[in-house]
Amino acid sequence: MSSVDVPVALLGYGTVGAAVHRLLIESAEDIERATGHRLRVVKALVRDLDKERGFALDSDILTTDVADVVHAEDVALVAEVMGGVDPTSDYVVDLLSAGKHVVTANKQLIARQAGDLFAVAAKAGVQLRFEASVCAAIPVIKVLRESLVVSHVHRVLGIVNGTTNFILTKMEAGHDYEAALAEAQTLGYAEADPSEDVGGDDAAAKMAILATIAFGSRVTLADVQYEGITEITTGHIQAARELGMSVRLVGAATIVEDKVDVRVGPALVTSTHPLAAVDGAFNAVMLQGDAIREITLEGPGAGGIETASAVVADMVSIVGTTGTGFLQDDPCWRSLERLDPGRLRSPFFLRVEVDDRAGVLARIAERLADHDVSVARLVQHQRDAGAELYIVTHESYTGAVSDALVEIADLPETHGKPSALPVISDRGIAKA
Ligand code: NAP
Ligand code: HSE
Repeated sequence: MSSVDVPVALLGYGTVGAAVHRLLIESAEDIERATGHRLRVVKALVRDLDKERGFALDSDILTTDVADVVHAEDVALVAEVMGGVDPTSDYVVDLLSAGKHVVTANKQLIARQAGDLFAVAAKAGVQLRFEASVCAAIPVIKVLRESLVVSHVHRVLGIVNGTTNFILTKMEAGHDYEAALAEAQTLGYAEADPSEDVGGDDAAAKMAILATIAFGSRVTLADVQYEGITEITTGHIQAARELGMSVRLVGAATIVEDKVDVRVGPALVTSTHPLAAVDGAFNAVMLQGDAIREITLEGPGAGGIETASAVVADMVSIVGTTGTGFLQDDPCWRSLERLDPGRLRSPFFLRVEVDDRAGVLARIAERLADHDVSVARLVQHQRDAGAELYIVTHESYTGAVSDALVEIADLPETHGKPSALPVISDRGIAKA
């Protein structure tokens, strides 16, 4: 299949816009493989042409005149990543009316004006997609709209603002509110006006969007009762900890007696609840429904490249659903060899029953060391017939742990068969 060149444009070239450009270049082959299209940024609207940019680009791409994008005849797809409602709303209407598909990361725009914008898009026969407007990298819009289309979701509960979750978890670790907010701004998590984050407006807009899709009934920002974290003090954080709980900014959209309630506010979450474990700028959304019972989606909720992944996914969906059928095609494009099972690395918990006498521990440690298995923790329990050892290793090759255990099982001091279980202690984020 010969590649189709697709000129695209960006409204905004800040934290998200620059990351979208970078991802389109770095993932060009993946996109082409999936869709047969090569997306090329030809215009990007900014306010200041002389500003330092996060990702280098040809100087003739930048413009301060939106007409350069609206009237660019070769551009059929635009990502709106400039934020704000005014003049952004007019720009998006002009783009849709001009027959251009639009992808947006702008939750304030969608939460306030989605009805009008969809009407314009439908009239012009183009798509308006907004995955990145809620929870950055988490594909919750697509899951709700496609995967759960018949699931009758009746409750959505979530942490949907990365900046405030970052601040709250920093405060839990003893950091100061102002310093944590400044760090969130430096890391590109916060809105241009961070009072939208800490005041709850950002989370409220996202909950309005989630409720609209989950319940199939329009909920706008004005329908959401919300407050942020500005009144939360270290006293609240300490009190929560004493009670075995955490303070989180929680959004809840619920159907009660066929009526909709959507609210956002600080809440105490018990330490065993999935939302209590959501750390830093991560978000999580719990979807509760008849058939699905409960599904939790968790992932990065803010950040340039994280948000760009959702913007680019929407762009790919648009080019991939107009002219090609990649959503239905066989998704396999390469053949990976199977990893030798012994080459997978993990920390392990080992349980070994042994004679309780001098030198036994040393002999076991020696067998582990011979296979480069390092001990992180060791606990010994006295038993009638000897001792029971609980050993937690540092990350080691599975095969090395198995080989060491075979030798340990053969020691005359060992009783029965030692056992090994992998320890899952990280967030499962591994670099490929
Ligand atoms: P940003 O870093 O402030 O970038 C905004 C960009 O838009 C800048 O390039 C700016 O131009 C341009 N711009 C703003 N107003 C403009 C105007 N009136 N005319 C022309 N250009 C204008 O913001 P961001 O963090 O990338 O966020 C962009 C959007 O993504 C917002 O809707 C935000 O809510 C959403 N979002 C952000 C994140 C995140 O983690 N950052 C996550 C999800 C969604 P200059 O560069 O010349 O100033
Ligand atoms: N400022 C937002 C947040 C960006 O912190 O969650 C993602 O929408």
